[in-house]
Amino acid sequence: MTDGEGLEVTVEKLVPGGDGFLRLPDGRAVFVRGAAPGDVIRINRLDKARGAWLVSERELLAAGPERVVPECPVASTCGGCDVMHVSRAEELAQKQLMLRDALERVGGVAAEPAPLTTAGDSVGYRSRVRFHVGKGGKLGFFARGSHQLVEVPRCAVADPSLNQALSAIRRLARRYPEALGGFTDVELRATEQGVIARFVPRDGIKPIAAEPFLRALAKDMKVAATAREAEQLSERRAVGESAFVEIPADAFSQINVAVNQELVAAVVAGAAARGLRSFCDLFAGVGNFAIPLARAGLSGVMVERTPSAVLAAQRAAAAQNVTSLRTRTADAARALTDLVREGKQFDLVVLDPPREGAPEVVSGISGLAPRAVAYVACDPVTLSRDLKPLITAGMRIVSVQGFDMFPRTHHFETLVWLQAG
Ligand SMILES: C[S@@+](CC[C@H](N)C(=O)[O-])C[C@H]1O[C@@H](n2cnc3c(N)ncnc32)[C@H](O)[C@@H]1O
Repeated sequence: MTDGEGLEVTVEKLVPGGDGFLRLPDGRAVFVRGAAPGDVIRINRLDKARGAWLVSERELLAAGPERVVPECPVASTCGGCDVMHVSRAEELAQKQLMLRDALERVGGVAAEPAPLTTAGDSVGYRSRVRFHVGKGGKLGFFARGSHQLVEVPRCAVADPSLNQALSAIRRLARRYPEALGGFTDVELRATEQGVIARFVPRDGIKPIAAEPFLRALAKDMKVAATAREAEQLSERRAVGESAFVEIPADAFSQINVAVNQELVAAVVAGAAARGLRSFCDLFAGVGNFAIPLARAGLSGVMVERTPSAVLAAQRAAAAQNVTSLRTRTADAARALTDLVREGKQFDLVVLDPPREGAPEVVSGISGLAPRAVAYVACDPVTLSRDLKPLITAGMRIVSVQGFDMFPRTHHFETLVWLQAG
């Protein structure tokens, strides 16, 4: 029996990743999947995985005060909405705490983040959902940390139009039983122009056997089953009162339209409040920040490595008579080196890297002599790590604000404003 098994303990809080956290009387940090703060549990099995102690079997002796019945019947198995078992108010409080803890523990920064900004509903908000195709054409999500498919009747956090589309696909797949077998995934997008369904072929080539199914489905929604078809299906989306972006079906887009509008507005307002006139947007995607900044009168350069996203940004800029935006299809670190070598300087650097953060980029940002940096991050831990070189280079954190882009999951976005001097 491992030391600690049999103990009755109380879960202290949630940590980045969504697990519950507590300390054993001997000081060991322990993680508990699916726990709520205040849960009293008996530890039946304790395992060490990748250097951390994990409660793998437990008995719930008393539920924490904010434990609730999840809005979705498969929440505990599907791996997506991993904080649906705590109240919404507690979820938001825990996210704010996760952010503060990460800044302090990883970044060595004592900052008090503002309460998270929310907008819209906490269910039915996802404009993009990817379903995996399992044996027999079953559609669902992978259980957390595995490739085991959990078939879902519907997804509680998906836009209602996507659940309708899912039903339509299932209905039609019953008529064409072989059709879905040729695909690994189906990504559904809710757009202002209707639903887009992108089917990902199992071996990279559109299966001929699926053609009648795809043709029939195209009567209900826009359908793409090759990279070329996906490129042609682009969505136009408002990202503020006076700007829109074009989003090709194969490019990144923020999945919560209402919260994204708040995030974009905060970046644009922050630039205006500081009197910033020029910007460099690294990891720019389809220009989610760059186009609204340019529409607000700033001139700038956006860097993005996905060619279809850059082409879409160029199209959207042209359609809005934006002439003050230059684009570079490039790796962000490489482009940054080039911009510094060319002697380019910008008042503002915006960076919104993927989950891994941008350690190779933050160390070079001072070469652009920015007066301010707006760092947008979906992982508070890599964000906190990346803030250190910026602070060493003379930047000072002036505000930290979470945005609840992914309600009922442990994920959220953070906007940190830094200023020189
Ligand atoms: C989190 S998304 C943000 C996109 C955009 N800022 C938005 O809000 O929609 C990160 C973007 O960075 C791009 N990306 C990832 N790694 C990159 C790299 N090394 N260099 C340039 N772009 C990269 C991805 O293609 C993606 O569009």
